[in-house]
Amino acid sequence: MNISTEEIRAHIDTPLFRMISQTADELQMECYLIGGYVRDFFLFRPSNDIDVVAIGKGTVLATAIARKLGKEAHLTLFKNFGTAQIKYKEYEIEFVGARKESYRSDSRKPIVEDGTLEDDQRRRDFTINAMAFCLNSERFGELLDPFGGMQDLEDLIIRTPLDPDITFSDDPLRMMRAVRFATQLGFDIYPDSFDAIDRNKERISIVSMERITEEMNKIILSPKPSVGFILLEKTGLLEILFPELTALKGVETKEGVGHKDNFYHTLSVLDNIARETDDLWLRWSALLHDIAKPVTKRWDPKLGWTFHNHNFIGAKMIPHLFRRMKLPQNEKMKYVQKLVSLHMRPMQLVEDEVTDSAVRRLLFDAGDDIDHLMTLCEADITSKNPVKVRRFVSNFKILRRKLREIEEKDRVRNFQPPVDGNEIMTLFGLPECREVGVLKTAIKDAILDGIIPNEHDDAYRYMLVLAEEMGLKPVKEG
Ligand code: CTP
Repeated sequence: MNISTEEIRAHIDTPLFRMISQTADELQMECYLIGGYVRDFFLFRPSNDIDVVAIGKGTVLATAIARKLGKEAHLTLFKNFGTAQIKYKEYEIEFVGARKESYRSDSRKPIVEDGTLEDDQRRRDFTINAMAFCLNSERFGELLDPFGGMQDLEDLIIRTPLDPDITFSDDPLRMMRAVRFATQLGFDIYPDSFDAIDRNKERISIVSMERITEEMNKIILSPKPSVGFILLEKTGLLEILFPELTALKGVETKEGVGHKDNFYHTLSVLDNIARETDDLWLRWSALLHDIAKPVTKRWDPKLGWTFHNHNFIGAKMIPHLFRRMKLPQNEKMKYVQKLVSLHMRPMQLVEDEVTDSAVRRLLFDAGDDIDHLMTLCEADITSKNPVKVRRFVSNFKILRRKLREIEEKDRVRNFQPPVDGNEIMTLFGLPECREVGVLKTAIKDAILDGIIPNEHDDAYRYMLVLAEEMGLKPVKEG
């Protein structure tokens, strides 16, 4: 990459950086921009997350800068770590003093000593994250790249500055970060660094699940998430972190009949959906849609391989998985459960005849998530047979049109039965009981099956006839 010091200087010649520069000069402290901001400058990815390393006390520099920035700056000092953060307008600026670090084997928390810039760079995760721009006025914009980060950026390589066994053992989260950066940026992990992940993978256990999941979410949100999951699988991290996913791997054959490899199928579905949506939870639904296939797999001499009810069992597995991964236990989880449990419905519909009543039921069950469900189902088409794919795509078009028409006509998407339980209980003087449930379900079914319109008076009349057949009598005239 042919970027001159002049170009770097021009890029960082902003009032904020000039002010940091001047303050560092006044304190007679060397100071550098480092890490993601520098990497992203070369990748043309604008960033407001700024890391500054000072040769000396980062907290002293940060305090002086915050004072100059005035009321708009919010300074936080982390005295135990000797680091500081300033939030200022859209910027988040982290300050550290250059460090020589060594780690205890049982913890990610380092023992820190003061060091030179190069000591600090050597202790960072990857060469592409270890480049620095000098901020002091005399050398403003000078690139310091002792570990060949620039070359690795050009060669699209993730590589540790130090012996990778040390870098990963120092902070095992970096193994996840290596995979994450490779996936986000479309880079390869340097063979040496890759092999070291395999050797050090067990140390991932000292990292908190929240941090691991944060990286996994970034992999899922990448343009082609399969890259990351294949790397996680190959390095052995996936087996430790997410054995349910590695269980999807492999093909079994019986009487000459094989089933597809559900791991690679799942990853194709995830890549397909990544082209359609940036919604993290819809992407999670794609990742988990077949998660129960291994536990439901059976060989049936007549039917071949079956995965009976894998959608429902999969939905049931999700709360436990989400708890373990420290993912939210709220409506996001319920949404993923819903999509996993319904993921086969549109496909079954287009394979059978698309009746109005089946479309109404699908709309009722999916509610507002119907469009996401359709996106998931379309992503689930990974057949290599172009004739089959064309047929599905065209049938899905028909189904989408029918969904639109029926929703406009019958408004079942967020359907609330027009006669509710309270009205039934008051009318017949009943407590909550089985009969009330039977009547409610009968009304809902009649509307979804198109026997009566979705209107109060029609539903009420229909309910009265049924109630009479059941021997119920109104306590007051309705
Ligand atoms: N770093 C490190 N080891 C880690 C985390 C961070 O060496 N486990 C260093 C890297 O030099 C990194 C910098 O700290 O560039 C800032 O870290 P962070 O803000 O987490 O990541 P970025 O590289 O800025 O990238 P992103 O914002 O995409 O996470």
